[in-house]
Amino acid sequence: MAEILTSSDADLRRAGALLRAGELVAVPTETVYGLAANAFRDDSVRRIFEAKARPFIDPLIVHVHSLEQAGTLADVSHPFVKKLADAFWPGPLTLVLPKKSCVPDAVTAGEPTVAVRMPAHPLMRKILRAADVPLAAPSANPFGYVSPTTARHVQDSLGTRIAWIVDGGPCVCGVESTIVFVADEPRLLRPGVITREQLEAVLGVPVTAGKGHMEKLAEAGTPRAQLAPGMLKKHYSPRAVVRLFDFGGNPPDVSSAAGTAAAVFQSRETAEKFRAAGEGTPRVFWLSETGELADVARAVFSLLRELDAAGFAEIFIEKSPDFGVGVAVNDRLSRAAAK
Ligand code: TXA
Ligand code: MG
Repeated sequence: MAEILTSSDADLRRAGALLRAGELVAVPTETVYGLAANAFRDDSVRRIFEAKARPFIDPLIVHVHSLEQAGTLADVSHPFVKKLADAFWPGPLTLVLPKKSCVPDAVTAGEPTVAVRMPAHPLMRKILRAADVPLAAPSANPFGYVSPTTARHVQDSLGTRIAWIVDGGPCVCGVESTIVFVADEPRLLRPGVITREQLEAVLGVPVTAGKGHMEKLAEAGTPRAQLAPGMLKKHYSPRAVVRLFDFGGNPPDVSSAAGTAAAVFQSRETAEKFRAAGEGTPRVFWLSETGELADVARAVFSLLRELDAAGFAEIFIEKSPDFGVGVAVNDRLSRAAAK
């Protein structure tokens, strides 16, 4: 199994030195855990794809410790970059920018752009300073499986494929960063904790939905085998079958599935009401005490993993209301539920 590194300065310096030297280390961020490598080393970046069984056509996010460091990788001259960085960095926002030639093609899947973010997690910031090279890092899970929000999650699913995991405690956001394609007409490529409304307030222009890189490839007719294992609409998936039901509603009739099914509600109150009303109903769980969306986002991947590990065959989940970070939660849930 992988060795767990702690928050001690000695361990963080060691993580930084290992990364700089080309090794893979799983690292905590405020969103989810990442599997990091020196972004300038083509051989190291390729090992990330191998460890995750991720298709090489799915590009990675590069993490930096400063806007200045971002400028070594990407063209940061668009006026929106400074506006967004001032407002949201360090934090859960990724900017897709024109790349510089020093970025290996393995990072960007040959695209002329590179995705860059400055994370806020204090341990990750120390690791970035210690490494003093930009770190390419996708979520630290096997491709297509539920993203990890604790060091234990990483150990459980990648522990035999990597040698080091830095334990930074549970991630405070719980869903991946918001991704924005920066241009005069900016596009939201992935919803996250930072909402479209927040982006528009800072930029003063509309931010419309754009297609993710893999979605575009699929639409362009890229063979499914290359996109394999089919992770476009489907992603973030536990082994169990996931079925969604509307916010404020009840799961469909699941009496036949009772025992093998779990019903997950947004809040404890609605979960307990459902339990009190039902007979022969499935086991009942909730994502938050009060329905607070930040709590729901923090819990969603963790609960999916727990229910999967507990062996439920079917997981019925109440959707979040469609605002704030609820948009990101619903995005991840609909991918987890896609066939
Ligand atoms: O919160 C996060 O962003 C986490 C932590 C570890 O930082 N990382 C993460 O990475 O979610 P990953 O690989 O699981 O998701 C990266 C997404 C992919 O969907 C990829 O297609 C998109 O970013 N992406 C990367 N580079 C891109 C580019 N040049 N153009 C468009 N999309 C890009
Ligand atoms: Mg991921």
